[in-house]
Amino acid sequence: MTNPINIKVGSFAASSSPVSTPSSIHDHFRHVRRHEHEHVPRVLHPIDNEDIRVLLLENISLDAVQCLRAKGFHVDHHTRAMSEDDLIQNIGNYHAIGIRSKTKITANVVKAATKLLVIGCFCIGTNQVDLPAAARAGIPVFNSPFSNSRSVAELVMAEVVGLSRQLFERSYELRTGIWNKQSKGCWEVRGKTLGIVGYGHIGSQLSVLAEAFGMRVLFHDIVNIMPLGQARQVDSLATLLAESDFITLHVPELPETTNMISYSEFAKMKKGAYFINNARGKVVDIPALIDALKSGQVAGAAVDVFPFEPAFNGAPFDDQLNAWASILRGMYNVMLTPHIGGSTEEAQRMIGDEVSQAVTRYLGYGSTFGAVNFPEVDLRAITAEQGTHIRVCHVHKNQPGVLKQVNDALSPYNVEKQYSDSKGEVAYLMADIADVSRRDLNHLRDRISGTDANILTRFLI
Ligand SMILES: NC(=O)c1ccc[n+]([C@@H]2O[C@H](COP(=O)([O-])OP(=O)(O)OC[C@H]3O[C@@H](n4cnc5c(N)ncnc54)[C@H](O)[C@@H]3O)[C@@H](O)[C@H]2O)c1
Repeated sequence: MTNPINIKVGSFAASSSPVSTPSSIHDHFRHVRRHEHEHVPRVLHPIDNEDIRVLLLENISLDAVQCLRAKGFHVDHHTRAMSEDDLIQNIGNYHAIGIRSKTKITANVVKAATKLLVIGCFCIGTNQVDLPAAARAGIPVFNSPFSNSRSVAELVMAEVVGLSRQLFERSYELRTGIWNKQSKGCWEVRGKTLGIVGYGHIGSQLSVLAEAFGMRVLFHDIVNIMPLGQARQVDSLATLLAESDFITLHVPELPETTNMISYSEFAKMKKGAYFINNARGKVVDIPALIDALKSGQVAGAAVDVFPFEPAFNGAPFDDQLNAWASILRGMYNVMLTPHIGGSTEEAQRMIGDEVSQAVTRYLGYGSTFGAVNFPEVDLRAITAEQGTHIRVCHVHKNQPGVLKQVNDALSPYNVEKQYSDSKGEVAYLMADIADVSRRDLNHLRDRISGTDANILTRFLI
């Protein structure tokens, strides 16, 4: 295998005289580079060396396809989702599957997935997968919850400016043939106060963008967070509502955040404030928002997420879905968008990178770091010079006595490092052991996979 770091080491050696003790900063880096190869991670392979087959559905980004093929996996790429029946017929041939939100991985699909090792959700949510069923079958599920934070933050800035300049009203009027040039009620955002509710991945990105526009930023969060730039955390939601010209929500949907903005919260806002929700539909009581808009308490709103959203493009957004839909659609000071906050080419590419790397790390190194349904276990890499080390990846039922059985089996060898964790019914142990012969390997595998708590045992060499 070619190793880029080794190539660099070679070129350094050719162009410089040997340096035994680093004397300048340049010498120091040369010295460090010379020794880097000692810590180069070894590429691991499954012991049975079966060709890994990956099924990608729903037009997952071609970058992800490339990334997985570059690892030597066989990838079948389909543009559409598969029905449960089709999945049940096909999934038995694959070790990994990549889906987006339309493909449902039900318990029946998991049952038919006899070779499946890992599921990659190339999206934010994972409720299209029966997560407990996958975990019980020893299959970790990975997603990409934060790849689109920047995209959402940028849309919010567009909405802040759009609301402040009545962009949608003017655009609508001109489309209907009405020229209405006016400055009354249109404002610059510079010097105005943006109140961010939830200062996580999106809220904090937005904070930086808003300050670059010359806005003053306040935020409210249930945890104390180090503010970025000149932003300031306020002591309560009520303070934030009272002081902000624009209020934007970036909290998760939880029982505590359901309808967190309702009649009394709108009443606490400055008269004529603007309101933006790109978080989750159920966080806002929409009839209360409609009242606040009608009375002028809120001057305008942007809403990207709704309690109930159509399942596919082209489906109606009407009163059958949400009882107030037609009222909201008829209000010109409301910007309505179909949950597109995170929908950009960049976010899709980042999702593709992140999930394909998580899938690859699990298949090649056993790491479950970032899995949503599984204990998160990872080990420092086995390095290139540790040629006889092997990695044991053992998924088992979370019950007493398992570690004793496994450690009895490992006890004749030097266990270089080991880590295990559990989540619900499932536990996962990773161990790197030294100097195991090929014959011992088969014996060891039979012994560990023969324990009654065994769900899945893989050896990587
Ligand atoms: N519109 C879209 O397309 C789109 C895209 C991505 C994410 N989202 C949604 O945006 C929201 C935020 O995403 P994120 O990635 O920034 O999440 P995050 O987990 O990084 O941040 C959420 C923040 O909210 C805080 N929080 C939780 N409960 C709170 C409460 N009751 N009061 C105040 N703060 C509270 C948390 O402490 C955390 O700091 C989520 O609901 C997510 O689903 C929407």
